[in-house]
Amino acid sequence: MAVVEVNHPLISHKLTFLRNKNTDTKLFRETLNEIAGLMTYEVTKGLKLEEIEVETPVMKTKSYILPDKAVAVVPILRAGLGMVEGIITFIPTAKVGHIGVYRNEETLKPVYYYCKLPEDIADRKVILVDPMLATGGSANYAIDYLKKEGVKDIVFLSLIAAPEGIANVVKKHPDVDIYTAKIDEGLNEKGYIYPGLGDAGDRIFGTK
Ligand code: URA
Repeated sequence: MAVVEVNHPLISHKLTFLRNKNTDTKLFRETLNEIAGLMTYEVTKGLKLEEIEVETPVMKTKSYILPDKAVAVVPILRAGLGMVEGIITFIPTAKVGHIGVYRNEETLKPVYYYCKLPEDIADRKVILVDPMLATGGSANYAIDYLKKEGVKDIVFLSLIAAPEGIANVVKKHPDVDIYTAKIDEGLNEKGYIYPGLGDAGDRIFGTK
């Protein structure tokens, strides 16, 4: 198990735009995808490669490629959708599944409503994505779901995580690595991460 705060000047710089309440929908969306792309570099460091032979203009040599079945990206709807494009830009062979879980605003408990996954999901490393790891309820629900589908290798990728959410996921799923751009101070009484960036889904899609 690992909890990794991906500290990088480019990510910290871009995160400032996301935190700023005056950032408009277009810039928010673009920047979120850019950060997701940068974080993909870290999350995929341990991926196994296949050795193949290629012919350069000079000679034949051994080289390495990702197997087609290496990765599936699974966004937790709806805010997770905001990170998918940034990830699959770097892993075009990734398949994309969707898990719909929303938070009941009163109980803060996860409510399931939708799931569609690639057929061969169990053979892939799954990058489960949600920009905000708040209470950890939706993350734990989605991880449980994926494990029931036979997935063995799951990494959770978020943008901002609350210490409470990290603790809950680590407790229930110690085998799942958590990557985040920033571990924030905590959760307020409404279940929002502070200082955070507000409601990620609303900011991605321009809703309220
Ligand atoms: N979901 C969000 O979009 N923002 C938070 O601060 C917490 C959960």
